[in-house]
Amino acid sequence: MKLTSLTESLPATVPFVGPEAQERARAAAFAARLGANESVFGPAPSAIAAMEDAARDAWMYGDPECHDLRHALAAHLGVAPENVVVGEGIDGLLGYLVRLLVEPGRAVVTSDGAYPTFNYHVVGYGGTLHKVPYAGDHEDPDALVSRAREVGAGLIYLSNPDNPMGSWHDAARVQEMIDALPEGCLLCLDEAYADLAPPEAIPPLDVRDRRVIRMRTFSKAHGLAGLRVGYALGHEDLIGAFDRVRNHFGLGRVAQAGAMAALADGHWLAEVRARVAQSRDAIAAIAREAGLTPLPSATNFVTVDCGRDGDFARAVLGGLLDRDIFVRMPGVAPLDRCIRIGCGTAADMDALRAALPAALRDAGE
Ligand SMILES: Cc1ncc(COP(=O)(O)O)c(C=O)c1O
Repeated sequence: MKLTSLTESLPATVPFVGPEAQERARAAAFAARLGANESVFGPAPSAIAAMEDAARDAWMYGDPECHDLRHALAAHLGVAPENVVVGEGIDGLLGYLVRLLVEPGRAVVTSDGAYPTFNYHVVGYGGTLHKVPYAGDHEDPDALVSRAREVGAGLIYLSNPDNPMGSWHDAARVQEMIDALPEGCLLCLDEAYADLAPPEAIPPLDVRDRRVIRMRTFSKAHGLAGLRVGYALGHEDLIGAFDRVRNHFGLGRVAQAGAMAALADGHWLAEVRARVAQSRDAIAAIAREAGLTPLPSATNFVTVDCGRDGDFARAVLGGLLDRDIFVRMPGVAPLDRCIRIGCGTAADMDALRAALPAALRDAGE
């Protein structure tokens, strides 16, 4: 076997160690699964019914053009089907986007501590990553744009709202960033949490604008992370280019049917939004009761400032894991003074409320 020299040079890392791997290593299941920004509230009952129906037809490949889902998304968003590509979650689409735009020697800009799967793809295609620091727990649009100008980057990544901090910029700030992009530089605007964000965080959708591609997903508010369905919205020339590289049978029949039904179920979406808002408040209250500082969030998690350095936050996280609460934390300083706690059910919140003070005591509060 001879790996390519690019593959040979890659670090043997994965962006995330899954909770299942952690459970195997601990030889114990988690009692509360609050670490992967999933929606514990689950998919819409109507989506479950549609997936059950589609399961009987799973002997057939899914439609490689994802025609019905693409058309439904286009109608829902008021754009043409040519402006929509669906794929295996935002993660899969980020891989395709990077494959389209990045090759060895090309510069790409992101924030230090932002979503690691993007970085994983850039490194995987041989690109050179440039990282700028967060400013006040927000990704910094000005710094991203000026670094892109400095290094001649063709691609910038911004997640709005942001993971792992839960922070967001308003639409005007994002639009200013788009207007300030260097010539020929594309903004990948990751809107994984758009369905959970206040409307003023989401700039109007303008698919005629060649400077930006937007990524969205059924994994968060729609509660379908296990299906792997995401979509990208943008100019038809860029969206059309995905057909050159995408896995045309990547989205199975069950996934296409489940996503279609979820999209049509506005009632469930409203219900999930309400439950997420309630749970954000519960996490913030639990954090405050324990003497910690919850950060404002426009997502389905709350990032909690543990008030000291990364070692302390890692110890708190360890204490929660020891008490069967699965949570994660940002990977780099100064963001790693925080832990990130996903929204959950009332039972999840009770488990968190019981575990957090003891985890803090263990950490040497
Ligand atoms: C910013 C961001 N982008 C993308 C994803 C992954 O989305 P998907 O499940 O559609 O691959 C996540 C999941 O946590 C995320 O936080």
